[in-house]
Amino acid sequence: MGICITATGLHIPKDSISNEELVTTFNTYVDNYNKKNAQAIENGEKVALQHSTSEFIEKASGIKSRYVIDKKGILDPEIMAPIFPARKLGEELSIMAQMGIGALQNALDNAGLLADDLDGIICACSNFQRVYPAIAIEIQDAIGMKGGFAYDMNVACSAATFGIAQAVGSIKAGLGKRIAVVNVEITSAHLNWRNRDSHFIFGDVAAATIIEELDTPKGYEVLDSKLWTQFSANIKNEYGFMDRAEFLAMDKEMHFDIKEPVNDKLFLQEGRKVFREVCPKVSEIISTHLAENHIDKSSVKRLWLHQANINMIDLILRTVMGKDADKAIAPIAISEFGNTSSASPIVAFHLHQDGVNSGDLGVICSFGAGYSIGSVIIKKV
Ligand code: COA
Repeated sequence: MGICITATGLHIPKDSISNEELVTTFNTYVDNYNKKNAQAIENGEKVALQHSTSEFIEKASGIKSRYVIDKKGILDPEIMAPIFPARKLGEELSIMAQMGIGALQNALDNAGLLADDLDGIICACSNFQRVYPAIAIEIQDAIGMKGGFAYDMNVACSAATFGIAQAVGSIKAGLGKRIAVVNVEITSAHLNWRNRDSHFIFGDVAAATIIEELDTPKGYEVLDSKLWTQFSANIKNEYGFMDRAEFLAMDKEMHFDIKEPVNDKLFLQEGRKVFREVCPKVSEIISTHLAENHIDKSSVKRLWLHQANINMIDLILRTVMGKDADKAIAPIAISEFGNTSSASPIVAFHLHQDGVNSGDLGVICSFGAGYSIGSVIIKKV
């Protein structure tokens, strides 16, 4: 008897944006802004914006491209945001549910299961397109699960491992035998595409993981999970249903121009601080977790890490596995996908299992806002 990850699945949006395309739009926006505000800049009332470069983006992050749902709106220098027509709840599938179903159906097909074989769905993400009803319950209904339960949970970029831990815990508690964790990330809608420091970071994708209790284990057995959180305001997205009240308190009237979003309510981070504070903690959590399970680091064949930044992945790999560690131990998906938030360690896991043999150990590890870190030790059956 064992609790196993038996399959994963992905839904990848059709549009992809290269660094060069992104930078062309950004720099057009900068030139237009500086021209429009030339007098104010000269008077010292405003600061001139600076160009972005593809070279910086690739060197600082390892990102070469990212998938997005709507490339056109993002690449229009007058808009620089994705454009999605509204869908009527109850009559049309929401975009999040549609993407989640794409990934979940792919995972179910890979597991050889039908939707109705599931007992539960946990939709674990960074950003939800509405507060309720839960996206997970919409997926449960639309994919054709007749019974069971579904709920949403948010642990930002760590949501996948926290979701897997919840699924394992639910199975151990007798709430079901087969649970799917779905990570849908429409990061393009929460990103400020006009912020030079972060406009290149994120991409859209959905991932799904099937966790099953089996008499005869298959896939990867989940050996143990470890979760850690500590409050920090260094990575944030403060958009919320209180915004209207806050705007009204500010000036008694809503001045909300969709083309000029309230920038400090979109994604914001202190990138340097995040790098400095999170990397050592991730290494510590993985190392402690392995030690608690009496696992020697040398027997770990893969670290499927959150794809936040190639330099973070490299540093964590070296601090956990030793400075000469083989880079193949920590596979990279960020170059093609960008940072896909909660979905990212599952994207890496889904795409990079070559060379993992029966009995090999691996760690799926996510980290991000909160701060939050999740480590899941798995063993190939
Ligand atoms: N194009 C060109 N230059 C840029 C630029 C851009 N788009 N953005 C910033 N720069 C410049 C800065 O102005 C700065 O110049 P200076 O040295 O002359 O002052 C220089 O590049 C370094 O900027 P900095 O912001 O310190 O870059 P960095 O090396 O820290 O890299 C991140 C930025 C975001 C990639 C990096 O901090 C990071 O990965 N942090 C952690 C991210 C993370 O994991 N977030 C979690 C979200 S889930």
